[in-house]
Amino acid sequence: MKDSVNRTPEGIKIHPPEDFAGMHAAGRLAAETLDMIGPEVQVGVTTEHLDTLIEQFVTDHGAISATIGYRGYQHASCISLNHVVCHGIPGPKALRDGDILNIDVTVVLDGWYGDTSRMFVAGTPSRKAARLIDVTHDSLMRAIEAVKPGDRFGDIGHAIQSFAEGQRCSVVRDFCGHGLGRVFHDAPNVLHYGKPGTGAILRPGMFFTIEPMINLGRAGTKVLADGWTAVTRDRTLSAQFEHSIGVTEEGCEIFTLSPAGRFHPLHETPISA
Ligand code: MF3
Ligand code: CO
Ligand code: CO
Repeated sequence: MKDSVNRTPEGIKIHPPEDFAGMHAAGRLAAETLDMIGPEVQVGVTTEHLDTLIEQFVTDHGAISATIGYRGYQHASCISLNHVVCHGIPGPKALRDGDILNIDVTVVLDGWYGDTSRMFVAGTPSRKAARLIDVTHDSLMRAIEAVKPGDRFGDIGHAIQSFAEGQRCSVVRDFCGHGLGRVFHDAPNVLHYGKPGTGAILRPGMFFTIEPMINLGRAGTKVLADGWTAVTRDRTLSAQFEHSIGVTEEGCEIFTLSPAGRFHPLHETPISA
């Protein structure tokens, strides 16, 4: 197999144009998985039931779940409710009216990784929860709009931080986005905060995720005794959205766009990328 390993001095892989097709297919399947699960997110449903549906859908489509067996993780999704920041473990607890949840899936299709997450709501969210979802969604989309070759990773972080903090929310520092491709997690760490004009230069052929976690309260997190579940220290609500993208000559391509146009849970998002 041809291994076109071409990395920047920072260790960031530059993929040739022919690598975009595999990422596009993997990203689309990951997005379709979340499109499938949307209508299943209902009051009274358990998160382990949602996870079972996800695992079935992924395998039915000729892919495998990247998270099953990853560092001992045993599920096809992470489902993070309310004050859970990320890496929530699916379990027997039923969803309640007003719960907000992030569902994060990563599939491997023909060796390529597609990693995406969105917020969902069970029943009717509170106004402050709906506002957090809006701010987090818009943080990610502003960051993606900032991705242009020649700009820098710090510009991405700054786009998120300046917007989210301007909305009186805080940006989680303890988890970041990541390079991906034929591997799940690669260089660079994609920080969701930063200063314009700093960090590695964005170049066509870089593949990475942007996945900001935004809190209504303070940014601090801690991991529970299960070794996975990260929660806000102050127990305030947290939200997250994640796309996998590839830098192009013009800007970037979102690999994990929803074919159904469903990304934001509270309104349809006509995304022109
Ligand atoms: N999908 C997550 C990410 O965005 C990683 C989950 S790893 C797991 O990088 F083991 F917790 F599933
Ligand atoms: Co990710
Ligand atoms: Co993810």
